[in-house]
Amino acid sequence: MFRSHTCGELRLSDVGNVISLSGWVARIRLMGSMAFVDLRDRYGITQLSFHEGINSDMLVKASDLGREFVIQVTGIVAERTSKNSQIATGDIEIVVQSLMVLNRSKTPPFIIENDTDGGDDIRMQYRYLDLRRGIVRGNLELRHKLAQKIRNYLSNAQFLEVETPVLIKSTPEGARDFVVPSRLNPGHWYALPQSPQTFKQLLMVSGFDKYFQIVKCFRDEDLRADRQPEFTQIDCEMSFVEREDILQTFEGLVSHLFSEIKGIHFDVFPRMTYAEAMSNYGCDKPDIRFDMRFVALKSPGEDIDVVGGKGFAVFDSAESVIGICAKGAGNYSRKQLDTLTEFVKRPQIGANGLVWCRIEADGSAKSSVDKFYDSDALMQWERLFRADAGDLILLMAGELNKTRKQLNELRLYMGSELGLRDPFNYKPLWVIDFPLLEADSENNCWHAMHHPFTSPLPEDLSLMESFPGDVRANAYDMVINGVEVGGGSIRIFERDLQSRMFDLLGFSKEDAQSQFGFLMNAFEYGAPPHGGIALGFDRLCSLFGGSESIRDYIAFPKNNNGRDVMIDAPSPIDETQRKELGLS
Ligand code: AMO
Repeated sequence: MFRSHTCGELRLSDVGNVISLSGWVARIRLMGSMAFVDLRDRYGITQLSFHEGINSDMLVKASDLGREFVIQVTGIVAERTSKNSQIATGDIEIVVQSLMVLNRSKTPPFIIENDTDGGDDIRMQYRYLDLRRGIVRGNLELRHKLAQKIRNYLSNAQFLEVETPVLIKSTPEGARDFVVPSRLNPGHWYALPQSPQTFKQLLMVSGFDKYFQIVKCFRDEDLRADRQPEFTQIDCEMSFVEREDILQTFEGLVSHLFSEIKGIHFDVFPRMTYAEAMSNYGCDKPDIRFDMRFVALKSPGEDIDVVGGKGFAVFDSAESVIGICAKGAGNYSRKQLDTLTEFVKRPQIGANGLVWCRIEADGSAKSSVDKFYDSDALMQWERLFRADAGDLILLMAGELNKTRKQLNELRLYMGSELGLRDPFNYKPLWVIDFPLLEADSENNCWHAMHHPFTSPLPEDLSLMESFPGDVRANAYDMVINGVEVGGGSIRIFERDLQSRMFDLLGFSKEDAQSQFGFLMNAFEYGAPPHGGIALGFDRLCSLFGGSESIRDYIAFPKNNNGRDVMIDAPSPIDETQRKELGLS
């Protein structure tokens, strides 16, 4: 028997018992007449003790151990004289009576503790060692726990987990496909699914009613902290539902997870239209942990201009002038204000500049454009922003959509600066009524904003031919703390409407038939009204863990170049394999 207990299990109540443990040597402290070894396994750490005169023969063996050796020990549980309240087994130690080295280890390339000296690259290369660190293991444990609870919740609500294929035909979800050559069909390619979208809709036609799958999806897109080329969705679809049913069901699921895992209870999730999100926060996934809403001093849509005609050319010529009020940031020094200006001028943001206006303790205002705006004008800004003494107004100017995007970056930056983005303060939200279509001015055509299977809001149907850009979709996103956790829609389920949608998106009848004929044909055999959502499982895990990076919650993630540096993939394939696949 390798072990009677795990390294996280023994307590004072076990004192006096003979036990055996197996695990990895985490730390060795040799102190002449005594030695201590921390033994680690998945469950925790237990101290092994060696003393001259008590277990002298073992003391000799301990001095031959190295870090990460795999050992098996038998010994007696004893109460420690100096206890360690940091670990669960900190009250006891094992007086070792026998020790066997099961396997030796090379010196690991970095310290395998929460506080490690290993950089990102080396830890990715030796991911199996990184996974020994408690903090990383804890992330995967959290992932497991979430997956379990999700499965149980959805199963209890009558959802059926169905697996859909991984070698499929491409589905247009906005990203590039990963493709796989077919040996049996030379010149033909499979695509890996960007999501099981069409399959889950076909399952609705089959009558499955409530489907879910915790499923790998593949997208060949540029990577960021919250994007991996392969990631996992909690993919769901329901028949005979309206938007309200979907929002309630998945708000229910996510609330359940927060309550079970974090003990946090939510009232209903607030809802915000896409239009509100864009005008108040300049983005479709606003972080509502803090207010700092946009205020327009000049805006084409709102027919307001309180900055024009004062001789300040930047504001005079701009389509819009919008800003935020950073509460309590009125004490920012010149240097700090310059840093903010540099921040918005970075190429990633691309603004030309930033105008600031500080509200002094006596309520008077001081701004970077005092030359153009007298105290009356500044008082008017102060009123519009509801600014108080000690606040800082920050203004940006330019083309409306571009300026909103830039100001959104500044708002998030200020939120972080002012400590308003506590990762454990969770603020969920639904964003609804997205536009159905997005104009592609380069190619002079429309793209589906969510995907081509999303239905228009019934009240906007009549605009499909005349003003397609104004049509709102019956689509929704779940956003938590500025992260798009999930997105979905009520689907088109009538063949004719689906076909019209493909027309709008610029598909010829032949292309639509060859790419989506299977779905449109299925719609002719009694497709029920249906809709669904997919939640990004990796993102959900990282939110629960309080981290911005989803990599920490994936056992074997890819790096920013989409590489797995541990197994060295992607890599070239040999000539024979290429020939077999008809590639050379
Ligand atoms: P969507 O494309 O919005 O919708 O994806 C759903 C959710 O998946 C997560 N996600 C990602 N997570 C990590 N890395 C990525 N590269 C990545 N891309 C997306 C996000 C996102 O909200 N078929 C539709 C769903 C539907 O309509 O039901 C779909 O895939 O959290």
